[in-house]
Amino acid sequence: MLTAADLPPIIQGGMGVSVSSWQLASAVAQHGHLGVVSGTALDLVLARRLQNGDEDGHARRALAAFPEPDIAERVLKRYYISGGRGAGTPYSPIPRLAIRQRRALQELAVTGSFVDVWLAKEGHSGLVGINCLEKIQMSTPATLYGARLAGVDAVLMGAGVPRTIPNLLNMLARNEPINFAIDVDGADDGAFTVDFDPVNLLGYVPKVQRPVFLAIVSSHVLALFLAREEAIRPDGFIVETPPAGGHNAPPRRPELDERGEMVFGPRDEPDLDKIAATGLPYWLAGAAGTPEALREALIQGAMGIQVGTVFALSNDSGIRPGIRDQMRAGIHDDSLYVRTDPKASPTGFPFKVAEISGTMSETSIYEARPRLCDLGYLRTAFVKADGEIGYRCPSEPVHMYVRKGGDIADTIGRQCLCNGLTATAGIAQIHAGGYLEAPVATLGSDLAGAKRLAEKYPAGWSAIEVINWLVSLSLDSPRIKKGLSPSLS
Ligand SMILES: Cc1cc2nc3c(=O)[nH]c(=O)nc-3n(C[C@H](O)[C@H](O)[C@H](O)COP(=O)(O)O)c2cc1C
Repeated sequence: MLTAADLPPIIQGGMGVSVSSWQLASAVAQHGHLGVVSGTALDLVLARRLQNGDEDGHARRALAAFPEPDIAERVLKRYYISGGRGAGTPYSPIPRLAIRQRRALQELAVTGSFVDVWLAKEGHSGLVGINCLEKIQMSTPATLYGARLAGVDAVLMGAGVPRTIPNLLNMLARNEPINFAIDVDGADDGAFTVDFDPVNLLGYVPKVQRPVFLAIVSSHVLALFLAREEAIRPDGFIVETPPAGGHNAPPRRPELDERGEMVFGPRDEPDLDKIAATGLPYWLAGAAGTPEALREALIQGAMGIQVGTVFALSNDSGIRPGIRDQMRAGIHDDSLYVRTDPKASPTGFPFKVAEISGTMSETSIYEARPRLCDLGYLRTAFVKADGEIGYRCPSEPVHMYVRKGGDIADTIGRQCLCNGLTATAGIAQIHAGGYLEAPVATLGSDLAGAKRLAEKYPAGWSAIEVINWLVSLSLDSPRIKKGLSPSLS
């Protein structure tokens, strides 16, 4: 059985929505390292790809391999449009995440993650992981189960305290019915659960194995907490520091600088000796994507590095090509700035916003967007006055959020990351009134590695070129040599 110690030195970070596409994960895995697909909103990604006609046939090829053909058939029937939807036609909605889940929701979630992991693993025997956000709890059981049906090797999860995941993975591997506890404002822990019964969903008992679980942590305090008890202990850690792209853990002492950005201080630096003392393997992330950083990490006793930004900028990522070109050009001429925005994300976590024209980082584009919430991945559940469950998101229309008991102060500066990140992946919704969702772009704030690659490869680079560059100073390291051996092919 695969263990965390068997995982390779380079982990290509999971980047949502679909920045860590199956094409990127496949390229990295075939090159001997851990390719990771983003597990965020894969139900939506599949439904929209099918509505766009699935031009290359990849989604339909993967669905044909889904172990329960009736489920795949229902998904195809519901979403596939031969030749694609007409220009200007809105995508049809999919079931919204909720605590009580209809069968159609779970079928789309399971097939969505199955498709991306299956495609990332197709045609080679390299290792593929899936990245999920703790904050999107309600989709976790179905998404991880679909990934597991496709043979996912590793699960990586951060943006919260992923203490229930080890047990969830054990239960899913045994095909047991799951009552997965969901955080609900105003309710006791464990009062509400997402119920997921794999055997009932599929109609038979498939053979599934438990993947390796890596918890993404930003502090040694959290790592020590998770490592203490077997029931919540991950198999290893990704230790992510503040320059990382996407969401960051909030600083221990929240403070803003004169630009209104969240600042991190020495207290936010994880103590690696303490993490090493847990005895669990760990990888370093956040401004760790250079040949020097990989060499240093291996010398210091880490298993390797998790790298985001330079892979996100590679030709294999799922960022819409025009936006990627703008990012690379801005890095090349030093005009691109990435800010640590304390308000943009409805989660309340700091979020890295790449300031690029034509995206939500521009005030005029942000203000032109009619506030609406039609996707809802980042909604949180709360108990209403009548005892029923409600859902709210600080990025939804202000009056609705306030009517649901939300604090108006939480709505200021919030962006709709669901629609914005989906637009960056090239599957933007066009609403019935004609409004086309604008992209939200994120990158890590340390662009030094990307700048070096932009100079080395002015016309752009591939994931394989990133790997060859990263390992270039560590070719004599036994861990790198092992990765370069043909044992995985
Ligand atoms: C475009 C982008 C999107 C990201 N999205 C996620 C995500 O959805 N989940 C997650 O755990 N990390 C996410 N990250 C963080 C990366 O997985 C990785 O840990 C981090 O970017 C490493 O730092 P680096 O960018 O300096 O290499 C994202 C990073 C980028 C650049």
